[in-house]
Amino acid sequence: MMFDGKVAIVTGAASGIGRATAARMAAEGAKVCLVDRDEAALEAARPEGETMIHACDVSDEAQVAACVKAVTDKWGRLDAVANNAGISRGYQPIMETEMEDWQAVFGVNLFGVAHFIKHAGKVMAAQGSGSIVNTASVAGIRSGAGGNAYSASKAGVINLTQTAACDLGGYNVRVNAVCPGLIETGMTKKTFDYARANDKEHRLGSRCELRRYGKPEEIAAAICFLASDDASYITGQALPVDGGNTASLNLPGMKV
Ligand SMILES: NC(=O)c1ccc[n+]([C@@H]2O[C@H](COP(=O)([O-])OP(=O)(O)OC[C@H]3O[C@@H](n4cnc5c(N)ncnc54)[C@H](O)[C@@H]3O)[C@@H](O)[C@H]2O)c1
Repeated sequence: MMFDGKVAIVTGAASGIGRATAARMAAEGAKVCLVDRDEAALEAARPEGETMIHACDVSDEAQVAACVKAVTDKWGRLDAVANNAGISRGYQPIMETEMEDWQAVFGVNLFGVAHFIKHAGKVMAAQGSGSIVNTASVAGIRSGAGGNAYSASKAGVINLTQTAACDLGGYNVRVNAVCPGLIETGMTKKTFDYARANDKEHRLGSRCELRRYGKPEEIAAAICFLASDDASYITGQALPVDGGNTASLNLPGMKV
């Protein structure tokens, strides 16, 4: 199995992509710590296998440090972290984006990732091995897939993936990112509910080359690959997992 004997942390594990990632890692033999700020949902998301749950707010560095310590105290090592917790705050135009929005979105999406890279990175560097996979977004590559703060935070995650990979590469610790396209999760529920209520479901994902939206398990599979030893020579990369969305200019009227 992909993660036999390995210890992993998955953030945002109570829902969507994180939940699917924790389930896949556990099914592949990992001991998994599921992390989320929503404690009740975390318990419900717990998959079969050797798992623990740890409720914390990833934007708070002290809570992140305590989470990493709880995992290493319990299992003695840390092999993989999926830095996946995120919030979006919708599609406000720049004129309506307040400082509080920037701070909230950056706090979770960018600083939360930085806190885990720092604290997990220390453990992994001392261990001489480890793999960190950050969930960025196609919104971090091009405009049109999220609001200003969200998109900038995800572009930050892509760049942080490169700089952290540089800092940690000498310790045999890899840092990569996935950039999901449109996936049906808690974050996109409103979009899916609206489309279904208005007979527009066929339009969801229709501008991707694969002409469909994605499933959480399809992102989980890419995260698990990058987190595993199968990706042992890959670091500093951001992999779009988006049905080909960012591979195309998506010019209106060009799709059949
Ligand atoms: N769904 C998509 O279409 C899509 C596309 C691109 C990227 N993403 C990214 O995928 C990741 C997972 O999102 P999802 O789509 O599964 O959404 P989701 O809302 O279903 O799951 C996100 C989880 O993160 C948790 N979370 C939020 N803030 C937190 C905090 N401060 N501390 C701890 N946990 C926190 C939430 O409680 C929730 O359980 C996010 O980083 C998101 O930006 C999603």
